[in-house]
Amino acid sequence: MTDAHTAANSPATTDMDAYWMPFTANRQFKESPRLLTRADGMYFTDDQGRQVLDGIAGLWCVNAGHNRPRIVQAIQTQAAELDFAPPFQMGHPKAFELASRLTEITPEGLNRVFFTNSGSEAVETALKIALAYHRARGEGQRTRLIGRERGYHGVNFGGMSVGGMVANRKMFGTLLAGVDHIRHTLDIQRNAFSVGLPAHGAELADDLERLVALHDASTIAAVIVEPIAGSAGVLLPPQGYLKRLREFCDKHGILLIFDEVITGFGRTGQPFAAQTFGVTPDLMTVAKGLTNGCVPMGAVFARQSIHDTFMQGPAHLIELFHGYTYSAHPLACAAGLATLDTYADDQLLTRASHIGGHFAEALHSLRGEPHVIDVRNFGLVGGVELTPRPGEPTKRAFSVFLDCWEQGVLVRTTGDIIALSPPLIASAEDLSRMVEAIRTALRRLA
Ligand SMILES: Cc1ncc(COP(=O)(O)O)c(C=O)c1O
Repeated sequence: MTDAHTAANSPATTDMDAYWMPFTANRQFKESPRLLTRADGMYFTDDQGRQVLDGIAGLWCVNAGHNRPRIVQAIQTQAAELDFAPPFQMGHPKAFELASRLTEITPEGLNRVFFTNSGSEAVETALKIALAYHRARGEGQRTRLIGRERGYHGVNFGGMSVGGMVANRKMFGTLLAGVDHIRHTLDIQRNAFSVGLPAHGAELADDLERLVALHDASTIAAVIVEPIAGSAGVLLPPQGYLKRLREFCDKHGILLIFDEVITGFGRTGQPFAAQTFGVTPDLMTVAKGLTNGCVPMGAVFARQSIHDTFMQGPAHLIELFHGYTYSAHPLACAAGLATLDTYADDQLLTRASHIGGHFAEALHSLRGEPHVIDVRNFGLVGGVELTPRPGEPTKRAFSVFLDCWEQGVLVRTTGDIIALSPPLIASAEDLSRMVEAIRTALRRLA
């Protein structure tokens, strides 16, 4: 065996080569890997034994912090008790229990729950329910779906089509037909460094009227937006914007879908952003915090009247031809129930409204640091926007990410925006440390 052959087949090389990593600069990563091996509370441990403060709740999902005993125990027990139950024409008790428990915290009226395995699948499911609902009530011509520029709704074809992040769309053909987009809500010129919701821009909701004038309301099935756009860089709804969107949808018989995959489960200071902002959608998608990120699971919450529209015809017939092999998987349901218990035990679903003030103050202290052109915050979500390096978009923020990693703090970047979404258990000191790591990186890289 030659040396070259041995090197190519050494465990490290082989392991790194085979895994094609998602949403990752694969070559950069494999040159200088960042490997996590354990996690507890607010911290990851890396393969060098370093403690890394988690500034992004894993990926906006580990809302109760890592390694929560009730959740770990529930998953272990469930695996030994019932590993799988077919979800089509069969059920298991925890699926019903979890759905029912969830409706205790969902916005008023959203009391029917369809389970999926991810946020992307929840989005596909919501879009399909919207189309099928209109058809079931005799308005099958309502086939058009409206998203928003810079929206992120996962990576499947429906979500990609209504999504509005160009890098996620441009490689993948023509996407779904009959989709259009309203304008995004970021307006740095008028709203830079707003603390909380920006004052200007409610009128951007009127863009829906423009699309209604173009396509006619009778062709539009649904509008989908994230109450706070997370993945595109923490874009906040201007004050009054979501209410206005709701009013237009009601006026025109268009369903309003909130994608709360990121904002759900306490991120904004209430269980859901719909409650924080006082606007109830017709359908709502969630995932991530639903199981504290421990087992993949997503869900769609539906108004009962939407669900009931399908409950017609002979009772032995399937009402909705949709579902996944792993819908309401027993391990996910067990994790979901234990997650709800953990949130309740520690009163985490409202904690962001208490600690959010400190977070806002710390984040906004970055105003005036090198390259910072905007700071945005709400609850426990934060975004810091930088001027891009000339000719090298995204590189500056990525350098901040790498520098923070070296300092033992995990942040996230999208474009030239640094995003923070800490676990809801974060202390004031944890939040300050995240911000100071960003400050240090900005000054070092200036
Ligand atoms: C708003 C929103 N919708 C959908 C998704 C997709 O979720 P998943 O990655 O679980 O498919 C995400 C993921 O970040 C998201 O932020």
